[in-house]
Amino acid sequence: MASRIRVGIAGTGAYVPERVVSNDWFEEILDTNDEWIVQRTGIRERRFAAEDEATSDLCVHAAEEALRNAGITADELDLIIVATISPDFQLPSTAVLVQDRLGATKAGAFDVVAACSGFVTALHTGEAFIAAGRARRVLVIGAETLSRFLNFEDRGSCIIFGDGAGAAVLMPHGECGQGEILRTSLGADGSGYEFIHMPGGGTRLPATVETVQANKHKIALKGRETFKFAVQRMSSLIREFMEDHEPEELGLIVPHQVNRRIIDAALDRLDMTDEKVLVNIQKYGNTSAASVPVALHEAVTQDRCIPGKLVVLVAFGAGLTWGGTLIRW
Ligand code: UT7
Repeated sequence: MASRIRVGIAGTGAYVPERVVSNDWFEEILDTNDEWIVQRTGIRERRFAAEDEATSDLCVHAAEEALRNAGITADELDLIIVATISPDFQLPSTAVLVQDRLGATKAGAFDVVAACSGFVTALHTGEAFIAAGRARRVLVIGAETLSRFLNFEDRGSCIIFGDGAGAAVLMPHGECGQGEILRTSLGADGSGYEFIHMPGGGTRLPATVETVQANKHKIALKGRETFKFAVQRMSSLIREFMEDHEPEELGLIVPHQVNRRIIDAALDRLDMTDEKVLVNIQKYGNTSAASVPVALHEAVTQDRCIPGKLVVLVAFGAGLTWGGTLIRW
């Protein structure tokens, strides 16, 4: 059997819509306030897509930047994987729309649905294709337009989420010389499927006038229940990845931007400070599958991914699902 091909992250990109929605905006429509939102989540503002903007549009912006940074063109891609729970359409996938818009004429394309763990899931899928010699250049995107699925009558959920997209181009490490994926981990516990849930619109509860009126096509969240799970998973994934490495080898942790308090509580458990953690939730809120790649791109542009040091991606969310990626930058 041929040996596994080592895979690297050749380039990253990100895009957030122009419209900034501050916490004050929610005060106009709900019984909430800036102080509560900042204290309980760390979020100060988030971005909402324009009316004529959908998830594939966000994907294309992020992808173009990632391709430029990787130094390749779309027609060199073998595969495009989009992670999203807010696709343009129920059918077909968002990935095929991106494939067409980019002119990626030689690429296969499909979506993965793993909510906030979507980007790491797509990253591992792309890595596996290249490692097995089944593809050489893979574009991986995490993108969401969750503003279309928020219940603006539910103050416990709608204040958290935002829109955005982040992308990464994968290729053999020998060709790009950076961002080698050393280890991946994925997990799921579907017994918690109702914790973060969009009940209507599928085969279980097809759309009717009544389901629409009852907000069944919007995100329903049991925040308190998912809080504990998120803290536990974030800390255990980091511990698992660092068990074979010295603490000095760690360059940066890029966690899912779920809630500032969740990130702080996980770091507390690990006896770590936030010095080596990228946090940008104050600017974008929780962008689900876009959260990790947007943060990773920010880390790259701010030179926080240090060559030779470890970068740890960790994500967890609806499903329940979780996943992590250990990278030697
Ligand atoms: O990416 C994965 C998906 N996201 C998550 O898994 C989110 C994880 N959970 C969280 O981030 C937090 O649980 C929330 C931010 C959703 C909620 O924060 P919390 O500290 O867990 O609040 P809570 O749900 O325990 O609610 C505490 C109080 C309640 O009032 P009472 O019952 O104590 O009188 C809520 O009604 O805060 C109230 N509340 C609010 N008050 C003002 C809930 N939302 C708001 C709000 N403004 N927006």
